[in-house]
Amino acid sequence: INPTAFQAALITWYDRHHRELPWRVSPRARAAGQKPDPYRIWLSEIMLQQTTVAAVKAYFEKFTARWPSVGDLAAAPEGDVLAQWAGLGYYARARNLHACAKTVSETHDGAFPETAAALKTLPGIGEYTSAAIAAIAFDEPAAVVDGNVERVVTRLAAIGTPLPKAKPQIRSLVAGLTPDRRPGDFAQAMMDLGATICTPTRPACVLCPVRAFCTATKTAEAERFPVKPKK
Ligand code: ADE
Repeated sequence: INPTAFQAALITWYDRHHRELPWRVSPRARAAGQKPDPYRIWLSEIMLQQTTVAAVKAYFEKFTARWPSVGDLAAAPEGDVLAQWAGLGYYARARNLHACAKTVSETHDGAFPETAAALKTLPGIGEYTSAAIAAIAFDEPAAVVDGNVERVVTRLAAIGTPLPKAKPQIRSLVAGLTPDRRPGDFAQAMMDLGATICTPTRPACVLCPVRAFCTATKTAEAERFPVKPKK
């Protein structure tokens, strides 16, 4: 896969077909100089870890209306944060969320660290989330790999190695494809592609902007990837 050609095809599609999400700065607004708010990017990525976009939207709006900044969230009693989280599940996420808000407020003066490596030291922020925040909020060309991206990439390269063994290969492929310009839009485009076109079943290959680069679609085998481990 030629990275420059792939990036051009994907970003052109994203500029036209990106999803409108409450935490997202559209490519048009971004080009006009609007910067994403790291607090909103962080909050959305934590909420999206085990929950669908559709379910997250309302929670995101409630949280940001009540706590507009990381300092506001840090100052809230933990019980209030857990109560507001009710229904999202995985309550360790809510505890880590509050702990992270406190750390950012108290030891970073209310400003999120700007690199994936520094973000990863914070409570509740792992490999995926640190890369996503660094790319989307701070333009670091970090390799952002979630389940959607794993599916897209294993199909592109027809990776027959089962997950999770294929993860290093997937990560290095994504690293090689990620551009220095607009890495955050590139990451979001890969995730939108996985969510809307390169779906787990019945992917819409005829509508795919990167079909020309995809090995699996050539033999109508997209649905075979990613290969799951034998139980
Ligand atoms: N899933 C998790 N984070 C996302 C994002 N920033 N854009 C699209 N889908 C996502």
